[in-house]
Amino acid sequence: MTVDALLEVRDVSVRYGKVEAVHRVSLAAGEGRIVTVIGPNGAGKTTLLAAIMGLLPSHGDIRYRGESLMTLSVEERVARGLVLVPEKRELFASMTVADNLELGAFARRRDGDAATRRTLDEVYHRFPRLLERRAQLAGTLSGGERQMLALGRALMGRPKLLMLDEPSLGLAPLVVREIFSIIVGLRQAGVSILLVEQNARAALQVSDEGFVLETGDLVLSGPSAELAANPRVAATYLGQGAQ
Ligand SMILES: Nc1ncnc2c1ncn2[C@@H]1O[C@H](COP(=O)(O)OP(=O)(O)OP(=O)(O)O)[C@@H](O)[C@H]1O
Ligand SMILES: [Mg+2]
Repeated sequence: MTVDALLEVRDVSVRYGKVEAVHRVSLAAGEGRIVTVIGPNGAGKTTLLAAIMGLLPSHGDIRYRGESLMTLSVEERVARGLVLVPEKRELFASMTVADNLELGAFARRRDGDAATRRTLDEVYHRFPRLLERRAQLAGTLSGGERQMLALGRALMGRPKLLMLDEPSLGLAPLVVREIFSIIVGLRQAGVSILLVEQNARAALQVSDEGFVLETGDLVLSGPSAELAANPRVAATYLGQGAQ
């Protein structure tokens, strides 16, 4: 494990009652990197993100910039720069695009940060479609636009570590490409990203390192290009026959 990792997950287990959904998983995410966790339905990907965010109790240790998060609340983790875009996006359907974005900066404004207007301009610059649709109700957006709004709202909180749970879910291939190119753009802007995906092909293409989770266990890890070339990954996740 690298010493300069932004996030270190060490031997983390998460249980739902008697069922262990994540079993002694260790992974590290470096600063300015895109790290992906791939794996099939039910592998424990969402559970792992929830544990990192503090939404679920876990065992083991989760460290951020060398500090253990284990005793910190969700709010304290948010204050340190961790932001999660959940699988369900959790937008406010009956509120406008602009109001949803404003809510993303709620914690910053509460803490007296007056620079949220500039962040809003940056988000609109990154997502011109959201600017066009700023008065539209979130519930009437297309799937791709909803995903952009969820990303934009997360960026309003100025995340240092952005965790994305299946950002490509339910989107057409062209839109998937657009979302992934936005994610690469975020890395260029200095945001570190932990990306959870079933779309292994797209995730391994944009990420630096990858981890493969199967039924709660980490079964493979390595540089994304190496994982994509691994015959087992290719056969199971990329829809190619083993070579
Ligand atoms: N609230 C819960 N109570 C009990 N079991 C749960 C709960 N949430 C998830 N699980 C179980 O934990 C395991 C891991 O689920 P999780 O949602 O983390 O998987 P995932 O990798 O995100 O899957 P998907 O790709 O379908 O989103 C599954 O077997 C699931 O049924
Ligand atoms: Mg999930």
